[in-house]
Amino acid sequence: MTPPGAARIVVSRRIPEPALELLHAAGDVWLSPHDRPMTTAELHAAIAGADAVVTLLHDRVDDAFLDAAGPGLRVVANVAVGYDNIDVPACARRGVIATNTPGVLVDATADIAMALILMSTRRLGEAERMVRQGGTWSWSMFFMLGSGLQGKTLGIVGLGQIGGATARRARAFGMRIAYAGRRRADAGVEAELDATMLDLDELLATADVVSIHTPLSAETRHLIDARRLGLMKPTAHLVNTSRGPVVDEAALAAALRDGTIAGAGLDVFEHEPAIEPALLELENAVLLPHLGSATIETRTAMGVLAAENVTAVLAGQPPPTPIR
Ligand code: GLV
Repeated sequence: MTPPGAARIVVSRRIPEPALELLHAAGDVWLSPHDRPMTTAELHAAIAGADAVVTLLHDRVDDAFLDAAGPGLRVVANVAVGYDNIDVPACARRGVIATNTPGVLVDATADIAMALILMSTRRLGEAERMVRQGGTWSWSMFFMLGSGLQGKTLGIVGLGQIGGATARRARAFGMRIAYAGRRRADAGVEAELDATMLDLDELLATADVVSIHTPLSAETRHLIDARRLGLMKPTAHLVNTSRGPVVDEAALAAALRDGTIAGAGLDVFEHEPAIEPALLELENAVLLPHLGSATIETRTAMGVLAAENVTAVLAGQPPPTPIR
C-alpha cells in the first residue's frame, strides 16, 4: 500500500524490474499498460498530477507535456543518453529537473558501431541475405570481396564517450583515428587514441569509414547532407549509431545508389521506425532496428540509473546524471 501523500511516479512504458522496484519504494507508480509508445493524448492524460515521469526516447517532453503534468512535476527521467525528445530549456523555466542515462550504454553502443563497421566493409548483410535466399555461390578468389580495416582511417564525428569507445575498438582492428567535433578532445584522449582533429569536411574527404556519435540538435540535424556525402571517398562507408536525423536519409540513399560512397551501416533512422524506402532496396546498406543499447545488462543499468535520478530528486538530493 502506498502511504497517502506519496509521490506520484508515472512510467511511460515498461522498464526492467530492478528499476521498477526502486521506484515502488519511492512512491506510487503508474506504469503504462501498453507495450508501445503512448499517444500524446494518452501520455498527457497519464502524467496529470505527476511528481516524476520516467520517459523513453519516443516521448516528447515539451511545453504541452509540462502543462499536462501540472506544477507538481519535479523530475523527468529519460531512459536514454540522447535527449533530443526533451525541451530542456522549457523544463528549466519551470524548475523541472531533466535527467538522462549517460555512461552505462557506452560499451554496448560502441559494440554495435564496430559491428556495423565490419558488416558494411565486409558486406555481411548482403552475404547473409544471399545465403538465406538460396543464392548460388562457391568460394572463389573474387567472390564478394569487401575491404579490410588494417591501416585505414576511422573518422569519428563527435569524440565523446561512445565515439572514444568506438575508436578504441577500431584501434584493435588496426585503424587510425581522426575526429571532428565542436570541441577538442582532452589531450590524454588524443594521445591514447593517437587521434588527429580535422574539420568536418576534411574528415569526410579523407576517412575510409565515418562513424557518427554527435547528439541530435538544431545544429546537427542533416549535418551529413548531399554536399557532405559528396566529399566522401567512393570507397568510404558511413556508420550512424547516434540519431537518424543527423543524416539526410534520402540523400544517403541516393549516394549509396549512385556510388558516391561504398556502403552504410545504420542503427538509427530519420523517422523511426519508418525507413526511407530506397534504403530498403540497397544491398550496400546495413539496417538495424535501433539496437545500440539493447543488451539485458545495459537496459537494466539504464532503467536503474533513471530510477536513481527520480528517487534522488524526490528525496531532495541532486540527481546522479542531470542534463546540463
Ligand atoms: C539510445 O538511443 C539512447 O540515446 O540511449
